[in-house]
Parts: sequence; C-alpha cells; structure tokens
Amino acid sequence: MHHDRIAERFRSKITSAENAAELIKDGMVVGASGFTKAGDPKATLKAFAAKAQKNPLKINLMTGASLGHNLDGLLAEANAISRRMPFQADSLLRKKINNGEVMFTDPHLGETAELLAYGFLPAVDIAVIEVAAIYDDGTVLPTTSVGNNLTYARHAKKIILEVNTTIPLEIRGFHDIFATGLSPQRQIIPVTEANTRIGTETMPMDPDKIVAVVVSDLKDSPIELSSVDDKTQAISNHLMDFFGNEVKKGRLTSQLPPLQTGIGNIANAVFSGFKNGPFENLQMYSEVLQDSTFELLDSGKMSFASACSFAVTEKCYENFFANLDKYRGKVLLRPEKISNSPEVIRRLGVIAINTAIEFDLYGNVNSTHIGGTKMMNGIGGSGDFARNSYLSIFVTQSASKNNSISHVVPMVTHVDSNEHDVDILVTDQGLADLRGLAPRERALRVIENCVHREYRDQLNAYYKEALARGGHTPHIIERAFSWHQNFNERGTMKL
Ligand code: COA
Repeated sequence: MHHDRIAERFRSKITSAENAAELIKDGMVVGASGFTKAGDPKATLKAFAAKAQKNPLKINLMTGASLGHNLDGLLAEANAISRRMPFQADSLLRKKINNGEVMFTDPHLGETAELLAYGFLPAVDIAVIEVAAIYDDGTVLPTTSVGNNLTYARHAKKIILEVNTTIPLEIRGFHDIFATGLSPQRQIIPVTEANTRIGTETMPMDPDKIVAVVVSDLKDSPIELSSVDDKTQAISNHLMDFFGNEVKKGRLTSQLPPLQTGIGNIANAVFSGFKNGPFENLQMYSEVLQDSTFELLDSGKMSFASACSFAVTEKCYENFFANLDKYRGKVLLRPEKISNSPEVIRRLGVIAINTAIEFDLYGNVNSTHIGGTKMMNGIGGSGDFARNSYLSIFVTQSASKNNSISHVVPMVTHVDSNEHDVDILVTDQGLADLRGLAPRERALRVIENCVHREYRDQLNAYYKEALARGGHTPHIIERAFSWHQNFNERGTMKL
C-alpha cells in the first residue's frame, strides 16, 4: 500500500489515526506540523481530539502557527490543551486563552525553534508531522508548510508521520531545508538573494524515532478571504504612490527589494495592489504565501516567492497543484527559522508590510491585543520582519464598526512593534512616513495623514494638551487610554 510514498522499512508502522492518537498521552508536549492551516497532521490530531472528548486529558501543543480543520477549536472544545504556542487563530481557543484556561505563549515565530533547542521550553515528547512521502533513509518529503517540523522532529523522543496522499509527489523541489545549528557554532545562513537555494529538498528524520505512520487523504482547510473594498484599495493606492516616489527619488528601483506581507484580509487585499502597479520582477521573502502572491506570479509581475507556508483559498490551492510545473523554481518553502531569520531579512533589505490592530501618535503598534488585554491571534512573524527590515510598514483601516473604533489612538494598549521599529504607517486616509522624525514630528504626521477625519480634532486636542505638559514624547498619562475606556463604557471611542 502506497509503495511510492512509504519506504518498505516503515510500512510495518502503518496504523490508523486512532491508534496513533493513543501514543499521545496526558501531559505530553506535542510538536506538530501546521502553519496557517497548511500541512497540519489533520487525521491524527482529529482522532486525538475525539479521544480527548471521551477521556479527559491535556497536552502542551506547539506547532508552526495556526491549524486548519478546526483542530484548535476541536482540541479547545475537548479541553485538551493546557499550553499552546506559538500562534493560533481560532475563536474558541482564543476564548479559553483569554479566560485563563489555556496558557498561551506568544513568541516571535522566527525564534520559536531556537527557544526549544536552547532548552528554554519543555522538551518535546512526541512530534506529529504531515509529510508527502517517507524515503528509505528516514528523510521525508514535506507538504504545504515547513514551520518548525525539523526542530520538533529533531528534539522529540518519538515521531508520528502522517502521509498525506492528496499531495502530489511532484511537490518535491519546492522545499529548501536548512539547519543552522546553535550558537556559538551557529552557521551563517547563506541566502544572499531571495531565490538562493541553500538546503535540501527533503527533511532528515531519525528513522529509529518513527513509531507510527498514518495515511490520510484530507486536504488542507482553505483560507477565506474577503475581497478588496474601498478602504483596502485606498491603503493599497497610498502604498503604491509611496513606492513610486521612492523610485523617483532613486532610493529604490522598479524591482523593489524582496517583499514580505502579513496575514489576513487587509494584508492580502493591499498586496494585490501590486497587480496594477508599475513594479516589475518582484520577489517575496515572506512567511506566508497568500492568493495575492499567486496572482502576481501569474500576471508576470512577480518572478519568485519564498516563505514557510501557504495560506490560500481553495481555488488558489487547486490551481497551484494543477500547475506545479509552472511554479517550479518560482516558489520555495523553508523552515520558519530561515523564512523569518533576522540575518537574512536585514541582508536582503526586505520591505515588510504587516497589519496593526491599532497604532499610536508616535508609531507604536499593537498587533495582538484587543483593548490591551484580549489576545487576538499572536505576533506571528510581524516582529521578526518589522525589526530587521529595510522598511517596516504597518497598515490598518483608520476606523471601523461604524467608526466607533479608531485604529489610530493616543497610546496603544499593548506594544508589539515599537516606535524604534516602525518606519511607515498607512490607513485608508493616507500614509505617514516617519523615517528620521522625532516624536513631536511623528505625531503631527500621524494626525495629518492617518487618523480618520471623525477623530482628527479629538486626536489633535489630545496632542495639544499633551504638548503643553512637555516631554520628548508628550502624553497625558492619566488620559492616554481614555478612548479605550470610553469604548468599554459607551461603545465608542468618540469622547
Ligand atoms: N479593536 C477591536 N477589534 C479590532 C481592532 C480594534 N482596534 N482591530 C481589529 N479588530 C478585530 C476586527 O474587528 C476583526 O474582528 P471580527 O473578525 O470579529 O470582525 C479582527 O480583529 C480582524 O481584523 P480585520 O480588520 O479583519 O483585519 P485582518 O484580518 O487583516 O487581521 C490582525 C488583522 C492584526 C488581527 C492580523 O493581521 C494579525 O493577527 N496580525 C498579527 C500577526 C501578523 O502580523 N502576522 C504576519 C507576519 S508574517
């Protein structure tokens, strides 16, 4: 059975997802594949969630990023997660994180594997990894995400491999697997251009650790995206004008440096703007490839894209697998330690475009916490890119929910990327170029260009009063969160 995918020496390990799930015991630390709904070990984790529904047990679950197939939701519903990292995007799990039932750690994605390897995290008992094939020497062919699989497999005591038979074997050649080692012996990551291949097509695993092989025919869950609307179109237009001006000033060429884009509706819609822009031969050095990446590859505007996973709609997913040869050599998936490596991001001079929940007068960005307390998804790789990029850009709508929420506030209620890391802020209202500006200059630019017109006077009034009190970064400390307080008490940030 599946002789083309499972080398003979591992066929005796083939078992059902239910039997494999039995190997995951109460209290274990589980390192699973899966990143933005791509490449998760769907059959085994589903079977484990069903088991946990009947017999109470809890695991400490680490992945690449968020899981598909409602796996985080099913596990949360079964109360099967005690600790979770490094990212999630599920509404029920979010609820449990926010009421304290699940301990969620929110590291930079590019650092997660290292935290584990340095021994700062509990040791992995069992790795559960989706693969497309297992070869005789124990190396495996990855699927639609690479995430932290290499590190989890390396550090786990046991490995369960889930062979996904829906992934064509022709996916071989789309991965670039490279291990850096650890400081002080850590190697240079020799990616000198976005498309430099540095590693292997397959991923090594210790064959002696492989305790079970599960065969699955479950496809990745698709991402659902809302289409471009007036606001995201306006954000995109401001960005395209900005890049056009940078080219005119001679700071950039029309190829632009490699691009990174964040996850979500806003980022995807904004990135689509490159379709009609004057920029050519674009490249991505990013964490996630979204539909917009493939639109740009198809239109000929983009020549290459590197990331560590796909986060695409069903249509885009089917199109990719139906046209693998068209994309061969144009798309590479790497471990998240490499896709999000500070060293490479800085060397390539990546332009990073991420989404903020809110940002403030001085350019501090909150990407994770609603109202300063409630976790949304996690910082993901936004901090890896923001800190190390050539240009760090954050986008958000200026106001939402009938303008009861202003996404430009006096002081952010939680800081993920701070003013030192943020160069450009963009909303549907306009773009604030903060490079080289002191806080007092930054504030004026944000008020002038980014805040929604219904909040402009209110922000101006706050700033003027703060200014009267003085300081390098003027604030009225006791009123810095008055907009959020007003929202909590009256349902609007309008005072
Ligand atoms: N106050 C209250 N709710 C807010 C809010 C604010 N200031 N800003 C956003 N939200 C809510 C929205 O209302 C929406 O909730 P809903 O789905 O219940 O309506 C949700 O957050 C998502 O916001 P949306 O406007 O649809 O944007 P998005 O889908 O582009 O997501 C982030 C925005 C910031 C949540 C998302 O990009 C994210 O998680 N970023 C952090 C990780 C990251 O950047 N990774 C990329 C690195 S490669």
